[in-house]
Amino acid sequence: MKTLLVTGGAGFIGSNFILYMLNRYNDYKIVNLDKLTYAGNLENLKSVEDHPHYSFFQGDICDRELVEGLFSHYEIDYVINFAAESHVDRSILNPEIFAGTNILGTMTLLNAARNSWEGGMGFKEGKKFIQVSTDEVYGSLGSEGLFTEATPLDPHSPYSASKAAADLFVKSYFDTYKMPVNITRCSNNYGPYQFPEKLIPLMIHNALNKRRLPVYGDGLNIRDWLYVEDHCSAIDAVMHKGKPGEVYNIGGNNERPNIDIVKTILCHLSANVDKAIDESLIQYVEDRKGHDRRYGMDATKIRKELGWVPETRFEDGIRKTIDWYLDNKEWLRHVTSGEYQEYYSKMYGTKKTEAD
Ligand code: NAD
Ligand code: TYD
Repeated sequence: MKTLLVTGGAGFIGSNFILYMLNRYNDYKIVNLDKLTYAGNLENLKSVEDHPHYSFFQGDICDRELVEGLFSHYEIDYVINFAAESHVDRSILNPEIFAGTNILGTMTLLNAARNSWEGGMGFKEGKKFIQVSTDEVYGSLGSEGLFTEATPLDPHSPYSASKAAADLFVKSYFDTYKMPVNITRCSNNYGPYQFPEKLIPLMIHNALNKRRLPVYGDGLNIRDWLYVEDHCSAIDAVMHKGKPGEVYNIGGNNERPNIDIVKTILCHLSANVDKAIDESLIQYVEDRKGHDRRYGMDATKIRKELGWVPETRFEDGIRKTIDWYLDNKEWLRHVTSGEYQEYYSKMYGTKKTEAD
């Protein structure tokens, strides 16, 4: 039996990953450490809360005592660090917290893992630290080319700057101490349990409530969309087969302009829910500050070296995602009550539109 410390396991990707692992393997014990910020939600893990191989601890990855306590209580074999402040718009409103969680939190985990795993003869066998990072550390692409693992880091938002800083610390623990680490950099995820501050669930939620759909700038910024389950299988491959010290890009091979995503969602909802959900809801609003134009991943390395490819076609993934939100309106209602209202009005209440 191996033990995984999954941080941020109550968030979007972390909870999908825990469900994926418990479903797929019966020889992994999962310890989930999550602070339960606005983005963390234990409802996501209701189906496994009594699973004999699952335990949850509420706490902060920056809390050294707590993190060291987990390492002394459990024989942890893998750390999969999902915990982060993850939203670019929030990082523009309030950058400091991104440095705290994303950089210092990662440092705290690295130190605790090193203290527990390093012996006189180097690191114990079978240990690994996986840092879940993002394509956003590479900056922005023009109309040509893709990000490879060799693309220089050039983050633009406080969010991506904090993720890049964390990546460099993780790399330094390999370079300096030979700590077994991998860094995964993935493109934009979508799927069940994503908090409705991100493009796809925000548009679904607004459309269902006949609220305007705020498209930033000209709507032609491009993201490379990856279905969350494919991201989970990629991390599974890196955990088991990734070579220590290596970075792996994970992409959906699925670039789309934002406006196409919004129209696809509208098309599905107007056909299946209500004809009145149509393109008249779209409202172009002032652009995000420092808005990266295009992300596109070259995932050749993980395909060639670890045999991983994304399996979900976008048409299937987006349909499954929309259906999940339609079937889980209560979840949406919970996560959008409270803090979300305040965030939403601060974020969108003052945004200029074309009419202004
Ligand atoms: P999320 O915002 O949905 O979840 C983050 C989780 O981390 C939440 O459960 C939150 O409670 C927890 N958390 C935050 N601060 C914490 C702290 N100090 N201590 C412990 N827990 C804390 O994020 P997500 O979309 O699931 O992203 C997970 C990881 O993947 C992040 O590291 C993010 O940078 C990375 N990533 C996400 C995407 C994407 O499209 N969502 C793309 C690339 C990379
Ligand atoms: P987002 O989901 O925030 O992911 P990221 O910025 O990390 O890529 O945004 C995806 C794209 O959608 C990005 O180009 C910004 C745009 N966007 C909007 O046009 N309107 C919105 O309300 C949001 C949240 C995002």
